[in-house]
Amino acid sequence: MTIWLSGDLGAGKTTLTRGLLRGLNFFGRVKSPTYTLLEIYPFSSFNLYHFDLYRFADPIEWEESGFRELFNAQSVCLVEWPEKAEGMLPQPDLLIQLDLAGDGRLARLSGNTEEGRRCAQNVMESYLSG
Ligand SMILES: Nc1ncnc2c1ncn2[C@@H]1O[C@H](COP(=O)(O)OP(=O)(O)OP(=O)(O)O)[C@@H](O)[C@H]1O
Ligand SMILES: [Mg+2]
Repeated sequence: MTIWLSGDLGAGKTTLTRGLLRGLNFFGRVKSPTYTLLEIYPFSSFNLYHFDLYRFADPIEWEESGFRELFNAQSVCLVEWPEKAEGMLPQPDLLIQLDLAGDGRLARLSGNTEEGRRCAQNVMESYLSG
């Protein structure tokens, strides 16, 4: 599963990822991968990879990083700043666009694959049921 997190600096991409990890019962530290580019969270049946590509200067860095092989059937990949590896990144199942909305944030979810659409649907249903 690949999820792109789009939105300006401070839009809440890392915070959303932290929330998702809390939802998966991970209560350890969730650091922004701004400097490390990648933070890894192993779960029993999959690995969650949290990328922040903001510091990519050139899409060629994507090839050299070896990150491509981490996008596989055993992983959930969350990618901040996917625009920085435009054309290189695997297409997302789910796209989340975040924008400031007063003190909070507005999230727009779009599913690109069957799995992504199902995921967006589940999020909407649990949101609406409070
Ligand atoms: N849903 C939210 N409601 C209120 N405040 C939020 C929300 N999401 C994030 N914030 C606040 O916005 C600030 C920036 O959040 P965050 O670091 O998650 O942004 P980001 O999109 O990951 O930024 P960057 O592009 O720099 O990585 C933090 O202080 C965070 O607490
Ligand atoms: Mg961030």
